Amino acid sequence: MPHPVIDARSVRLALGKGTARVEILKGVDLNVGSGEAVALLGPSGSGKSSLMAILSGLERADEGHVHVTGLDFTKLDEDALAAARRGRIGIILQAFHLLPTMTALENVAVPLELSGDDQAFERARAELAAVGLGHRLDHYPAQLSGGEQQRVAIARAMAPRPALIFADEPTGNLDTATGRTIMDLLFNRQRETGSTLLVITHDPALAARCSRIVEMHDGLIIADKIAA
Ligand SMILES: Nc1ncnc2c1ncn2[C@@H]1O[C@H](COP(=O)(O)OP(=O)(O)O)[C@@H](O)[C@H]1O
Ligand SMILES: [Mg+2]
Repeated sequence: MPHPVIDARSVRLALGKGTARVEILKGVDLNVGSGEAVALLGPSGSGKSSLMAILSGLERADEGHVHVTGLDFTKLDEDALAAARRGRIGIILQAFHLLPTMTALENVAVPLELSGDDQAFERARAELAAVGLGHRLDHYPAQLSGGEQQRVAIARAMAPRPALIFADEPTGNLDTATGRTIMDLLFNRQRETGSTLLVITHDPALAARCSRIVEMHDGLIIADKIAA
């Protein structure tokens, strides 16, 4: 088996104290190999976003083994986790999270520049062209449609060529037709760049396009299948 990009075992997470304490992840095991496209399904509140936060280094597990892109996330402090994310992990969220005071081009280029890329603007232009936004470089997020804003977010996530892309309900704020177009784009870019994708979704049509479907319920993985 190739070296896994995600190797998580017995991952546990609880939030709150005393009687308010809630167990969110109750011992999750997940292995994802390079180049896989995995759909993460499950009812609202089952722990999908929490698991993604741990696997992307945004949140720390209470217990368990969390190796991502070859790094032991349980051994890194917050600064080291931030550094580990940079260039390795791309994150796409339902609510785009673009900086409103920056143009589309700047939203993609500035993070590249901060990570030391001396051709940041050139590369950002190419990434935006690859998502069909070559004609919207100087627009601000408020001047773009939801679908266009999500394209910018995809370009931003893909630009550093991360080994791993996480997408949390990336089409949740979009109408069905726009959502389909965005998913086509995300899968195309994933294939073209050879990255590994973990996508949280409620959309069965979207899940069916992944090579593997993992299902969560109440803080545990209850099914893990290769897609037909
Ligand atoms: N910061 C928090 N404090 C307390 N409980 C939380 C917090 N974040 C999430 N939860 C709870 O954790 C559970 C899992 O949430 P989440 O990972 O967002 O699930 P999903 O993404 O599958 O909808 C839910 O019951 C939610 O209410
Ligand atoms: Mg969620």
